[in-house]
Amino acid sequence: MKVFAGVATGIALIGAMIIGAVYGDKMLNSESAAPATSAVGASTTTVPYDPPSIEEVPDGPMKEAILYGHELVNETNTVAADFVGNNLSCTSCHAGAGYDRESSSLVGVTADYPQYMPRAGNILTIEDRINGCMVRSMNGKKFEIDSEEMKAMVAYFTYISEGVPVGADRDWAMKNTMDEVPVPNVSAGEELYQKSCIACHAADGSGTGANTGPALWGPDSFNDGAGLSRLSKMAGYVQQNMPVGNEGSLTDQDAADLAAFILSQDRPEWKNHDKDFPGIERPKDIMDKEKRQQVKDGTINWEEVVSKAK
Ligand code: HEC
Ligand code: HEC
Repeated sequence: MKVFAGVATGIALIGAMIIGAVYGDKMLNSESAAPATSAVGASTTTVPYDPPSIEEVPDGPMKEAILYGHELVNETNTVAADFVGNNLSCTSCHAGAGYDRESSSLVGVTADYPQYMPRAGNILTIEDRINGCMVRSMNGKKFEIDSEEMKAMVAYFTYISEGVPVGADRDWAMKNTMDEVPVPNVSAGEELYQKSCIACHAADGSGTGANTGPALWGPDSFNDGAGLSRLSKMAGYVQQNMPVGNEGSLTDQDAADLAAFILSQDRPEWKNHDKDFPGIERPKDIMDKEKRQQVKDGTINWEEVVSKAK
């Protein structure tokens, strides 16, 4: 009896440690102060990164939808022009239409929804999450849930998620947040931008094309309700993925300076800031119109902005 109780306590302890580890990891990468929580929650399953090729979609009734979904994700601004309010594709941030492991990979994403998202204060389905990127990152309109476009996108994401079990720890996902952002220097960021980024993104940030160098600010870029308009996400994204061809070369300070410069420029406004993060403290690093004005006026308190980046 005694032995059994000891073993049971040991198992419970190990279980608690695993849950703690997974939960802690999710916290660091979540959208806000509180972690996103999927239906299945903590899991110890880790899976290899091995999505099936888009060249080898099996024949059958799903094939057309999967291929259309891939096209929609890769060339959103042209294939779904009526729904997109800027000049970006999903590939502008999810490189290789979500296939690229290092750049906001979407492989396995359908295994992680529905999920509680603090920004929405609600449980989101994969369709809700796609529409979230449509109205924020794409500064556009939602797809109808039962439209051909939405069905195709979900079919495509389900296809590239094949083999990823529900609740698995996708160690490649949601990795674009810098946890401790140094106090940035906007003019150092501008200098670095002119040196390292304009070949693809143009000196005025308007870009050279959705999949060759997307617009970083101005009317053709994402609105300030998008994930990337948070300093911690922009700094993390730039450090991990830019400049293309020399990724991982920027220090924390470089990436923070670049992010602060980019997010100090004008961009489309999100109209529903007041509805985001219901019931919890709004992250301080959202670079909205008020903060952009403070940068221009020289009154911005960067210490405060970076203090509550998570
Ligand atoms: C301007 C950049 C940008 C664009 C464009 C963009 N997204 Fe995202 N998306 C993000 C960021 C940032 C995240 C959060 C990922 C992170 O923190 O690593 C995200 C997250 C997601 C997620 C959730 C991923 C997960 O693992 O839970 C989905 C699904 C998604 N995007 C779909 C899309 C779709 C579909 C499109 C095109 C219609 C799109 N995104 C366009 C930046 C973008
Ligand atoms: C050789 C071309 C190239 C260079 C140089 C480059 N980028 Fe990019 N950038 C891209 C491409 C292509 C994408 C689309 C995603 C991908 O393929 O990784 C992108 C995407 C981005 C995005 C997300 C999309 C958006 O619209 O916001 C940001 C932010 C970004 N780059 C910032 C930078 C910064 C900052 C630098 C300089 C340090 C830089 N890039 C240098 C090609 C480049």
